[in-house]
Amino acid sequence: MAQIIDGKKISQEIKDELREKVASLKEEGKEAALAVIQVGNDPASGVYVGNKKKACAYIGIRSLSYELPEETTEEELLALIEKLNGDASVNGILVQLPLPSHIDEDKVIRTISPKKDVDGFHPENVGKLVIGEPGFVSCTPAGIIQLLKRSGIEIAGKNCVVIGRSNIVGKPMALLMLRENATVTIAHSRTQDLKEVCKRADILIVAIGKPRFITADYVKEGAVVIDVGIHRNENNKLCGDVAYDEVMPHTSAITPVPGGVGPMTIAMLMNNCVESMLMY
Ligand code: GUN
Repeated sequence: MAQIIDGKKISQEIKDELREKVASLKEEGKEAALAVIQVGNDPASGVYVGNKKKACAYIGIRSLSYELPEETTEEELLALIEKLNGDASVNGILVQLPLPSHIDEDKVIRTISPKKDVDGFHPENVGKLVIGEPGFVSCTPAGIIQLLKRSGIEIAGKNCVVIGRSNIVGKPMALLMLRENATVTIAHSRTQDLKEVCKRADILIVAIGKPRFITADYVKEGAVVIDVGIHRNENNKLCGDVAYDEVMPHTSAITPVPGGVGPMTIAMLMNNCVESMLMY
């Protein structure tokens, strides 16, 4: 029987641990604060930002909310970030992506102080991940490591295939699995014989961005399957990159969608905010 990895439960455990930590830090007079910046009113971003603020309230992190209009200029946004960089009471700065097309995302990411970059997107933090130094790590891949560890899944020595090479998920995911001593393959849209590559995986991490793409014939019997995708199917129901119903019986452990990887991202963001206060 496959173990269904319960991301909702594990993320709740992490949030409860953080809540306790934050309460005891408050007794020492230390308070964490996260600045959350949204430009424009993309509805999906609105939901994510709302959930991030809710998580802050639950854990006891102060959240400062900046809801800027769509017409905000790049200069205005960069000036706000600079102001927050210089504000010692702010530990973390989160700029919700995507940004309107007239704003250069890379420039925005590089303007956030690496010490407040709780998303782990700044090149300095990415570089630290590559060379194995402590720094902020992108929240979704960091959350997947927690899912695996807290589910008792051995990583060291295992063949891990990551499908997807984005800066936010695929690349940091591969680096984290390498740090955990897995043998790592990164597959992507140009990979030849994707099925054969996937079939070698003891741990298959799927961030391909195509609904129900990974069917049972991509999966080795007894593999662990982690699904990063989130889509709405023809009946408006949420589904992942993995055809869950047919793949699940062939796995030893699998994440569902929803309730798998999704809830972990915010839990790890909260973790990074607390770490930021402790580190810097
Ligand atoms: N948009 C989608 N995911 C993310 C995320 O993890 N961080 C930020 N800042 N924006 C996002």
